[in-house]
Amino acid sequence: MRYSPSLACASQLNMLADIKELEKAGIDMLHIDIMDGNYVPNICLNPDLCRELKSAFPKMELDVHVMVKRPMDYIARFAEMGAEWFTFHSDATNFSKRTISRIKAAGMRAGIALNPSQPVSALLPFIDEVDMVLMMAIEPGFSGQQFIEDSYARIDELKKIREERHLKFLINVDGGINAPIGKQCINHGADILVLGVFACFNQNKSISLACKVFDEELKG
Ligand code: DX5
Ligand code: ZN
Repeated sequence: MRYSPSLACASQLNMLADIKELEKAGIDMLHIDIMDGNYVPNICLNPDLCRELKSAFPKMELDVHVMVKRPMDYIARFAEMGAEWFTFHSDATNFSKRTISRIKAAGMRAGIALNPSQPVSALLPFIDEVDMVLMMAIEPGFSGQQFIEDSYARIDELKKIREERHLKFLINVDGGINAPIGKQCINHGADILVLGVFACFNQNKSISLACKVFDEELKG
């Protein structure tokens, strides 16, 4: 099980300090939310941040989550910046299969994001080809939203498909996660949890302590 804290929830002014806090807590993966103001009604982060992240924190795996129209247009830039994971939304392109093969050809691992309003079956045409499914437990675009309860059943559905098809994709759950919810997601089969404002940011303690408390509560 891994944690992938979302830099969309970090301080945009003191991001370096926040990432150092995450590093102190033993975090080895960062969730980079990229929003274009078109696919979602919000704008967030940009590819150049990844270049600086890679040089300052070479050991941190970059879990890039693009909430953009025409995701294929951005593959080369994130690959060049050293991103390890590139996750896109299938309803942001007419060519999910081509996008997945282009991500892999660029040397990154391919993720597909599933919105709460999409059935899990929407992924079936290409689920055999992805390295990760990002199960959105909130509507994408904004952090701080409440976790949508039926996400647990959807994780079960994904896990069943993975077992039946003998696949190895990771299940990453994104949105509204606190420790009790995270514990349930893991019990249902999640491999990675995106941590936001209910987990390690905007808590009344340091980020490194918040991560430690979250981890202890989740494992408790
Ligand atoms: C929302 C992003 C999520 C979000 C998670 O569009 O994809 O990664 O920032 O933050 P919380 O856990 O606070 O919802
Ligand atoms: Zn995200």
